[in-house]
Amino acid sequence: MEKKKIAFVSGATGGIGSATARKLEELGYFVILHGRNEEKLNQLKEELGENAYIVKGDLSQYEVCESIVSQCLEHFGQVDLLVNNAGITKDNLILRMKPEDFVEVIETNLNSAFYMSKLLCKPMIKAKGGRIVNISSISGIHGNFGQANYSSAKAGMIGLTKTLAKELASKNILVNAIAPGFIETPMTEGLKEETKENILSQIPLKSFGKPEDIANVVGFLASEDSRYITGQVISVDGGMNI
Ligand SMILES: NC(=O)c1ccc[n+]([C@@H]2O[C@H](COP(=O)([O-])OP(=O)(O)OC[C@H]3O[C@@H](n4cnc5c(N)ncnc54)[C@H](O)[C@@H]3O)[C@@H](O)[C@H]2O)c1
Repeated sequence: MEKKKIAFVSGATGGIGSATARKLEELGYFVILHGRNEEKLNQLKEELGENAYIVKGDLSQYEVCESIVSQCLEHFGQVDLLVNNAGITKDNLILRMKPEDFVEVIETNLNSAFYMSKLLCKPMIKAKGGRIVNISSISGIHGNFGQANYSSAKAGMIGLTKTLAKELASKNILVNAIAPGFIETPMTEGLKEETKENILSQIPLKSFGKPEDIANVVGFLASEDSRYITGQVISVDGGMNI
């Protein structure tokens, strides 16, 4: 039997993260589920059974990333696919945004992706190949009211994606980003009805996205079908980005 490929999904207990973990398992990956909520992690692990393994910790801290990566490498020897999905929002207009809220969002959304990519590209180079998928956002392309911190982090992820794609192409490591539009997950459910209606009016396909819409594209980027694609930002947004 062929050895299963190993995927690491950060923020795997969230809306997009859990859909991604399910999709990758369906495609034959063994999935390392990263999260912070023990109960939700256990539920997902139970669902995926022997094809999943749990790691916990705050990825905005480099030392935590180091310890998580060494735990994964000890167990599995390598990681073939890294999905940098963990993220938070702390929205406010710039006049009211506290400097610490700017820094926290950058550290959680962007620094974590850099740390995990840095730590995992080394074993990928050793294994002569790998994939990295960064979950960015339409806010990183267009900017968005109240999201100076989040848009900066997500734009940073796009720069990171393109740079790593160039640096790692000769090592057979493909690096791409997905820019979701508005996806129905815990991150967006708290938004005011008025805000949601306003966003809906800007979506040509006239509906919000589902976590599976993102997971399906991660699945494609994790497959052999995408072997000639690197350094790209794929919008999955019902046409918002047109
Ligand atoms: N939902 C949307 O409309 C939308 C749009 C564009 C981009 N995104 C991006 O998709 C990704 C997933 O978001 P979601 O909508 O599923 O939200 P979610 O809130 O359901 O999931 C986010 C996950 O990230 C984890 N996380 C947050 N901070 C962390 C930290 N410091 N260390 C470790 N884990 C941490 C959370 O525990 C959670 O599991 C995020 O990066 C988000 O910015 C979402």
